[in-house]
Parts: sequence; C-alpha cells; structure tokens
Amino acid sequence: MSEVRVATVLRTVEDTRAFGRQLAGRLRAGDLVVLSGPLGAGKTALAQGIGEGLGVTGRVTSPTFVIARVHRGPLPLVHVDAYRLRDGRLDLDDLELDEELDRAVVVVEWGEGVVEALSDSHLEVVLERHDDDSRTATVTGVGPRWS
Ligand SMILES: Nc1ncnc2c1ncn2[C@@H]1O[C@H](COP(=O)(O)OP(=O)(O)OP(=O)(O)O)[C@@H](O)[C@H]1O
Ligand SMILES: [Mg+2]
Repeated sequence: MSEVRVATVLRTVEDTRAFGRQLAGRLRAGDLVVLSGPLGAGKTALAQGIGEGLGVTGRVTSPTFVIARVHRGPLPLVHVDAYRLRDGRLDLDDLELDEELDRAVVVVEWGEGVVEALSDSHLEVVLERHDDDSRTATVTGVGPRWS
C-alpha cells in the first residue's frame, strides 16, 4: 500500500473552504474522499470548498437527513453523510455509490472504516479541532491512485 501524507493548518472556516477548492483541482472522476473528524470539525465546510472548486451546482450543505446528495457539474460531486451507516441501520450497498464513482467525485463525511472498500484507492482527510478554533487537516493518499 502506498501512502502520501500532507498536513496543513486552517485558521478560519474560509481557509478550510479554500483548502477544499485547492484539493478539488487534484480530483477526477472515480476519486473517493473520506472526511473524518469530530462534530463541527469542518467536514462540511471542506466539502463546500471541494464543491466550489469542482464548479458544481447547488449549495453543498450538511447531508445529514438525506445521506447522499448529487451535485451536477463538469465533474459531479456526490456528498455523503455516512453517520447512519456506522450503526448498521443502513447498508453501504443501499447507496449504490460504486455506480456514482465511475463518473463523479464521492466525498463522504463519517465514512472512515465504512466506505474504503468501495475503491482500491481513497484520499483520507482527517480534521482536528483546536481550542483557538483553528483546524489541522491531514491528507493521506491511500492506494495506487495516489502513489
Ligand atoms: N478553521 C475552521 N475550519 C472549519 N470550520 C470552522 C473553523 N473555525 C470555525 N469553524 C466553524 O466550525 C463549524 C464547522 O462546521 P461543519 O458543519 O463544517 O463541521 P462538520 O465536521 O461537518 O460537523 P458534523 O460532524 O456535524 O457534520 C462551522 O460553524 C464553522 O464556521
Ligand atoms: Mg457535516
């Protein structure tokens, strides 16, 4: 397994969105991005930046009640909240994400340990929240796509 790791400090929510826009420039169809970190860490803010960078339509919001939302664009974004997959109430197969992955970028909040099996490669982004409200993002590319 090949791994590439980069860490960056995000002082404000706008930094987090800008980081997402930057990340989007490196993404292509078939990419799976797994966002992890505690409540309020900035996973959705990062997903918003990715959406902006990809130029998709519709505001990227917290998908908590819909689980997955597809945003159309030159490169579509599928934004997933996997929180309810973690307790086994919903099954990953129900979302049919493997079909979406062929043509879109799939970004999953709370997906760690659940969605990696969808692809032989994924980009893992771990957000940590500090007392001064800054965040640290650690990005790890896992698998042949990121070697
Ligand atoms: N440096 C920062 N980066 C990201 N968000 C920040 C930062 N500083 C403050 N915030 C605030 O923290 C909150 C992050 O919320 P967001 O919904 O993105 O988190 P989340 O990880 O998706 O939470 P949830 O686990 O509920 O899905 C926002 O209100 C945002 O304004
Ligand atoms: Mg969120």
